[in-house]
Order: sequence, then structure tokens, then C-alpha cells
Amino acid sequence: MAMVARGLAVVVHHGRSAVQANELVQQIQTSGGRALAVAADLSEPVGAAATIFQAASELGQVTTLINSASVFQDRALTDVDLDHCQLHLSVNLLAPLFLAQQFARQLTAGQRGHVINLLDWRAERPGVDHVVYTASKAALCSVTRSLAQQLAPTIQVNGISPGAILPPEDRQQWHQQRAENTIPLRRTGSPKDLIHAIQFLLDAEFITGEILHVSGGEEL
Ligand SMILES: NC(=O)c1ccc[n+]([C@@H]2O[C@H](COP(=O)([O-])OP(=O)(O)OC[C@H]3O[C@@H](n4cnc5c(N)ncnc54)[C@H](OP(=O)(O)O)[C@@H]3O)[C@@H](O)[C@H]2O)c1
Repeated sequence: MAMVARGLAVVVHHGRSAVQANELVQQIQTSGGRALAVAADLSEPVGAAATIFQAASELGQVTTLINSASVFQDRALTDVDLDHCQLHLSVNLLAPLFLAQQFARQLTAGQRGHVINLLDWRAERPGVDHVVYTASKAALCSVTRSLAQQLAPTIQVNGISPGAILPPEDRQQWHQQRAENTIPLRRTGSPKDLIHAIQFLLDAEFITGEILHVSGGEEL
């Protein structure tokens, strides 16, 4: 809804959550905004990017791309296989890359645009867990900085590195303990904190290639 308040028409991409995506579209339309939902499996990143932008063209030119979808699975090295790696790299790295490609292609010359990639502060300080996920986010960090240079001066490309925002379903207690033990601001964040960061980046005309941490300082 924050994007609707900025006057943007919204393309709501979903994988399995068709019901929730359609409800959101309905909510936006009821409030007077324009929106549509599109299903695409990001584990097939080239086809998914084409599908999403084809659907999006119904609402006109896309001027803001927010890459948020991800897979987040933890496996010990002994259990890592090629499927696990391909899934993380396709959804977390290649989908944002090919979506940025489609995004840049459909913008008319001189039209300004924003790409915002959702990263993870762990990408810069890998831990013992989530090895492949963390590597995929580290690579997306690199892509963010490269594309910021390649797509300038008209398209700004930035990243947001969240910390403890939403607890993993199976580790609610661990999430709370992070606030007490490792987050300097002694609290977890909320989706509102991410919305503020996105709004800031969309309003910032002289920032590109930046990775903004929304983590309460946990990476420090
Ligand atoms: N939550 C946090 O505290 C936290 C912390 C650090 C970083 N982040 C980053 O912030 C972003 C948003 O976090 P989140 O917790 O909202 O992520 P999430 O719930 O793990 O995943 C977001 C969505 O990704 C979509 N997705 C996954 N695989 C897909 C596929 N093959 N095809 C299409 N869609 C697919 C799913 O959509 P469907 O439900 O429609 O299938 C899912 O709802 C992510 O990039 C995450 O890495 C979050």
C-alpha cells in the first residue's frame, strides 16, 4: 500500500501465495489504486522475468523493481546437493538479475528508474549456517553494485540488508533472543522498518550502489 500511496500501479508477483496476492490486488483496487497479480516460478528465472514483465506491460512502463522473493534453507555441507544450490542461485540471484534485465529493456531512453534488491546482512558476515543462501545473497550484493554502475545514470540500483525482521516459523524464540543478545538496538524490526528504507531509497536522488542495513546494528 505504501507504493500505491506514491501513486504507483503495482504488479504483485507470487509463487504459491495466489490467494494472498489476489487479496492484495483487490485491496489496492478498492482503495482506488491500480494493480494486478502475476504468477511466475522464479526457479526458472529467464521465463519468469519475461512472464512478469509481459503481464506488467498492461499497467504501463515499470519504473520501480523490488526484488524480495527468496528461498532460505539451511543444510549441513554433507546434505548439500546440486538441486539445493540451483534453487537458491536461481531464485535469490538469477531471478533478480534477469528481472533487472527486463526492467532496463522496457524503460524508454532517459526514463528514470529504481531497482531495490533485498539482501541480508549475513551476506557480508557469513555464519556457520545457511551456507548456500548466504552465498547467493553475497553474489546479489555484488550484482547490485555492478548494475548500479552499468545502469547509471538513469537507473539507481540499491540494496537493503535486513536483519531480524520476521521470525522463521520454526525459530520464534531464537529470533527474540537475538534482540537480547546480539542486536545493539535491543529489539527486532518489522516490515514497517523495511518500508521506510524503501521509501528513503526511492526519494534519494544521489544514492546508487548502496547497501542499506535495516538490522538494529546486528552486523556491527
Ligand atoms: N524476514 C526476515 O527477517 C529477513 C531477514 C534477512 C533478509 N531477508 C530478506 O528479505 C526478503 C523478504 O523476506 P521474507 O521473509 O518475506 O522472505 P520469504 O518469506 O522467505 O520469501 C518471500 C517469497 O518468496 C517467494 N518465492 C520463493 N521461491 C519462489 C519461487 N520459486 N517462485 C516464486 N516465488 C518464490 C515466495 O512467494 P509465494 O509465497 O508466493 O510462493 C515467498 O513468499 C528476502 O529476500 C529475504 O532473504 C528477510
